[in-house]
Amino acid sequence: METDKTVETASEQVVNPWEVSAKDGGKIDYDKLIDQFGCQRLDQSLIDRVQRLTSRQPHVFLRRGVFFAHRDFNEVLDAYERGDKFYLYTGRGPSSEALHLGHLIPFMFTKYLQEAFKVPLVIQLTDDEKCMWKNLSVEESQRLARENAKDIIACGFDVTKTFIFSDFDYVGGAFYKNMVKVAKCVTLNKAMGIFGFSGEDHIGKLSFPPVQAVPSFPSSFPHLFPGKDKLRCLIPCAIDQDPYFRMTRDVAPRLGYSKPALIESSFFPALQGENGKMSASDPNSAIYVTDTAKDIKNKINRYAFSGGQDSIEKHREIGANLEVDIPVKYLSFFLEDDTELEHIKKEYGEGRMLTGEVKKRLTEVLTEMVERHRMARAAVTDEMVDAFMAVRPLPSMFE
Ligand code: TYM
Ligand code: TRP
Repeated sequence: METDKTVETASEQVVNPWEVSAKDGGKIDYDKLIDQFGCQRLDQSLIDRVQRLTSRQPHVFLRRGVFFAHRDFNEVLDAYERGDKFYLYTGRGPSSEALHLGHLIPFMFTKYLQEAFKVPLVIQLTDDEKCMWKNLSVEESQRLARENAKDIIACGFDVTKTFIFSDFDYVGGAFYKNMVKVAKCVTLNKAMGIFGFSGEDHIGKLSFPPVQAVPSFPSSFPHLFPGKDKLRCLIPCAIDQDPYFRMTRDVAPRLGYSKPALIESSFFPALQGENGKMSASDPNSAIYVTDTAKDIKNKINRYAFSGGQDSIEKHREIGANLEVDIPVKYLSFFLEDDTELEHIKKEYGEGRMLTGEVKKRLTEVLTEMVERHRMARAAVTDEMVDAFMAVRPLPSMFE
């Protein structure tokens, strides 16, 4: 059953595209989200299947459960096994100049999927959305979209298989026809239920969900998928975006379209702890891809919530509480070496390793990653952005 319950009372956890907060300062309850949203758990048998089909080790984010939920991913794999390809769709709302580490997660994972399955990818930059929600001018939103495109390209996407578009530039034609078809299927009551819109919201917000919905349909990209109306779509994203795609999946059959499949991640948490997501609106909660080595070190030392004990004696005696420890959590996203991660967890959890040592290792891992990203981004030219964003066929997109 797919339900519409996104908006909960204040004492409950809230997860929607605009807000992520746990109940009473606790952790986000992801099992509860799966039940509430009606998605499926991504279990080990699916991960094993990915390994078999792609003949490579599954991405760390799959092995460690960062991507933990899905909708119909098994069907996409069934089809792939029979020789039917699919396409990937993801996106970014360009609300700030610099991305934080949480934003990189879906893009790093999407790059892995593109490589492993050899499939095309469309990336939507919702400059219209951020213009309407964030009180940015049209021009400023467009500028941010192009800046963000550089960070996205720096993640290593293959230009022969990837189309990046901004809504302000691309919406029209077949894409717009699909938007109108979707809009006609969604009542105001339904939209208020799914997205929590109220009578005080301007009508621009009400009009937006079809824009995020229709890249799920291959016919929205006639230059890419002519005559391929049955091509399945797989959307990697964090689970905050689920409401848009619940709506999309609800209307798709009525338009004669396939429902998009989803593969959904948990949130990269704020430095302060796992009761919220890393968010651009609180600079002290986030590590940005533009932070210097010194910024990273300071933020981790000062703000990263520690599960270590107050005194060394007590720590040596009972060890760290790994359940609430942010440095260990971050390492579980970004330290690739499974053996080293297990070693740190054991030593720290049993009190032989101290918080300072774990933070030092985390600082090294993140500094290295951010430095690599900085160099890759510096190499992205305006011509490259134009090449990714050109409306063009991609003749070798399935090779
Ligand atoms: P945006 O720009 O808020 O976020 C971009 C992507 O990053 C994910 N994300 C996170 N993932 C893990 N940890 C975090 N702390 C974190 N914060 C953000 C988001 O879920 C998203 O996948 N409206 C969208 C743009 C969009 C889109 C899409 C996203 C349009 N079409 C299709 C996904 C799929 C937005 O503003 O994302
Ligand atoms: N709505 C998303 C946001 O505000 C951006 C977005 C657009 C997106 N299309 C997407 C995210 C597809 C994931 C997948 O963050």
